[in-house]
Amino acid sequence: MNSKRDFISIDDFSNEEIEVLFVIADKMNLLLHRSHGVLAGHLMGSLFLEPSTRTRLSFEAAMNRLGGRVITMSDAAASSFSKGESLADSVRIVSSYTDILVLRHPHAGAARLAAEYAPVPVINAGDGGHEHPTQTLCDLYALRQTKGKLDGLRVIIYGDLKYGRTTHSLALALARFGTDVLCIAEPGLNLPTYVRNRLTAMEGISEHSLVVADENSVFSGEEREALLYTKNPQGWQLSDNALKLAGIAFDAIYVTRLQRERLAQDDADLGQALPPIDARFLSHGSFQDAVVLHPLPRVDEIDHEIDGDPRSFYFRQAALGVPVRMALISFLLGHEMMRVERAPKRDEREWKKASCANPNCVMTKEGDYLQQKIWKDPQERVHCVFCDEMLD
Ligand code: CP
Repeated sequence: MNSKRDFISIDDFSNEEIEVLFVIADKMNLLLHRSHGVLAGHLMGSLFLEPSTRTRLSFEAAMNRLGGRVITMSDAAASSFSKGESLADSVRIVSSYTDILVLRHPHAGAARLAAEYAPVPVINAGDGGHEHPTQTLCDLYALRQTKGKLDGLRVIIYGDLKYGRTTHSLALALARFGTDVLCIAEPGLNLPTYVRNRLTAMEGISEHSLVVADENSVFSGEEREALLYTKNPQGWQLSDNALKLAGIAFDAIYVTRLQRERLAQDDADLGQALPPIDARFLSHGSFQDAVVLHPLPRVDEIDHEIDGDPRSFYFRQAALGVPVRMALISFLLGHEMMRVERAPKRDEREWKKASCANPNCVMTKEGDYLQQKIWKDPQERVHCVFCDEMLD
């Protein structure tokens, strides 16, 4: 029986597994500059069919630091994808050369498809606008380093929440750990419905629609629509459907850039309307002890003037990607154990309908050779197994 573990969604690891993984990452951090070669003889396939700096190089650095080796494909145009080879066939081939695959791909669900065809563990390094679960591990690890815990925090997720795949995985993870998540989106770029459904399907999580208003400085007197996901709504000052930021201390603000490369035709006019995070923004009392996180790259949503502020943690957060990914690779290759409760498996079934309506789903893009599968949430809503969008 093939008992390989993949890491496709943040849902694939239980909270307990994430906590153990971070203990392993602590150990990796100490060993980072020593050659220990535990994965000597292992080969990682690094398939990046979208641009990347941090994810690709931190995965490759992680494998090299563990004593393993890496083969890379970072230009689809120079590969047989350009001749029309399917993702499934490409994955079959590359996994026959390697022991583990890391895949970044422009289509939602591509890593799940790859995991079906690869006999070796597959890691999702970002699939379209869907998920980026290893970035979430880095984000959680950064929060744990700065705040000492992951539960009971108050975190703002800020920016393009529609196409910013890191925000999807992160909101799901934080809610699971019992952290209050306030989502402040660029207008028209709120969390996709399937992410909201997954959040509200979690035991004890409620969603509130809010108007976030601050008379002092943060929003220049303007009001913004926001969504709050919380396990303890009584803990917040809610009045007349408005959350007053004043008096509420946040632990972190997680900022994302506008994902211009993913904006659909209908969204093409959308631009950055939220104020950048700058010294004035951080001067508000609510952010006195808030760390500023960002998956990077940044464009202009964080002012360079705050790079030296002790609350700015985004460069350190990126550096933590190496020990976190060392821990993940070691675990998936069986060199580290986690004797804790595993995440429950989704109830997946085959489905008669042949296609998914999401134009960016790998099911839509790869087409004919794929058998559509579904999973059902606790409300019996049917979701595409690849991109998680709801099906009719
Ligand atoms: N955070 C992140 O995914 O960065 P890259 O696109 O540079 O890999």
